[in-house]
Amino acid sequence: MATPMAVKFHYSITMALIVTSCLISSSHFLEAQAQTDGTATYYTAPYMPSDCYGYEDQGVLIAAASDAIWNNGAACGQSYAVTCMSGTNAGTPHPCLDSSTVTVKIVDRCPSGCRGAIDLSQEAFATIADLNSGVINISYQEYV
Ligand SMILES: *[C@@H]1O[C@H](CO)[C@@H](O)[C@H](O)[C@H]1NC(C)=O
Repeated sequence: MATPMAVKFHYSITMALIVTSCLISSSHFLEAQAQTDGTATYYTAPYMPSDCYGYEDQGVLIAAASDAIWNNGAACGQSYAVTCMSGTNAGTPHPCLDSSTVTVKIVDRCPSGCRGAIDLSQEAFATIADLNSGVINISYQEYV
């Protein structure tokens, strides 16, 4: 007599798990754009004035966009998850730290001639890589 109830219970748990995992994967899909490979460099304070916010302080987990992502200023305020992948020929061989992803907000435009796709604040760069490297290979992803 207990068996049908147990089966029913097991069924609803399974359905709940399936629905939950569908919700998690669809929301993940909506929030994260495709990953792009590139390089990152860093710049140092003072971070103001910035092209996007003038003298409005945006903290230190910020970055300047290269022309690859600047998009006529549409990049202002966008968040990017930046992951250190490896060194480059120009930097030190193994610059990535264990916690190798940082989320930054675009507040500025990297002047033409900027060497990477994203110019991170010194603080953001130091979160994912050895500052001595100066430039690193990254994978970056916009959050919308
Ligand atoms: C860094 O990225 C470039 C371009 O994708 C690649 O050619 C190079 O091998 C990478 N460096 C390392 C150390 O993986």
